[in-house]
Amino acid sequence: MQTVSFIGDVREVVENARAAGRRIGFVPTMGALHAGHAALIRQAHEEGCFVIVSVFVNPAQFNDAGDLAAYPRTLTADEAVCREAGADLVFAPEVSEIYPAGFATQVTVDSPLTKAWEGHFRPGHFAGVTTVVAKLLLIAQCDRAFFGEKDWQQLAVVRQMVRDLAMGVAIVGSPTVRESDGLAMSSRNVRLSPEARKTAKIIPYLLDTAQDLLDSATPETQTDKGGVIAAWLRTLLESNAPDARLDYLAVVDPDTLVEVDEITNYAQVIIAVHIGGVRLIDNRKIVKRF
Ligand code: PAF
Repeated sequence: MQTVSFIGDVREVVENARAAGRRIGFVPTMGALHAGHAALIRQAHEEGCFVIVSVFVNPAQFNDAGDLAAYPRTLTADEAVCREAGADLVFAPEVSEIYPAGFATQVTVDSPLTKAWEGHFRPGHFAGVTTVVAKLLLIAQCDRAFFGEKDWQQLAVVRQMVRDLAMGVAIVGSPTVRESDGLAMSSRNVRLSPEARKTAKIIPYLLDTAQDLLDSATPETQTDKGGVIAAWLRTLLESNAPDARLDYLAVVDPDTLVEVDEITNYAQVIIAVHIGGVRLIDNRKIVKRF
């Protein structure tokens, strides 16, 4: 495995890999790699791809300068994770390589998908994501790109962009990897104090409770309605974690992320909440069992 920081070097390596008959798999990351990223890299490797991992903390997708400054940068440890999981190439560019002087292009998905939820609470975030992902996909010239399902809305937005621009890349979503108590792996978890870390268990608990509520729905409780489930979960959060600050908690259509009321088949529960000053997001599918 080698690490490069220039676009030209990636192009050369990709050309050689293609000449050797390899399919290119790409895992875009912002570093601070954890078991969730390792699972994506391993999946790409096990599918037989030549695996490129980008490590780039993308300033364009942060709408809070403090959040950008506090983002962990751990390239040496990240390289070890990449090597162990089967990556072939790490692309770790400087900001000036991705956004050289005079850079003036923005790729935006202009639809309600990018305005709601994360889009509402983090204005400009998705434009930053789609711009950098479009550029990275062009650099990696990959056949398949792997994204974690923890960022459910991001995955939907990237799929839309790739579809609209006929980018010819298969977008592969991979299940969220969780800690033993259910908390979704995230680069932000290291910023949780021990107390906040304990409180954060409420998130997977709420998501699992959503399925329980759906399972136990009766005409009286109406807990097969998205709005009713969301209201129950908000009350549970308030009573179990009164200091948590909720951005959103909703039951939505998995593809459009529009809120659903009557759950006829399945839906996605999405949440973003600040616990101990750290913003955490998560989601899970809930299924109506007949
Ligand atoms: O999910 C992330 O880590 C980032 O949003 C991504 C896809 C690497 C783009 O910067």
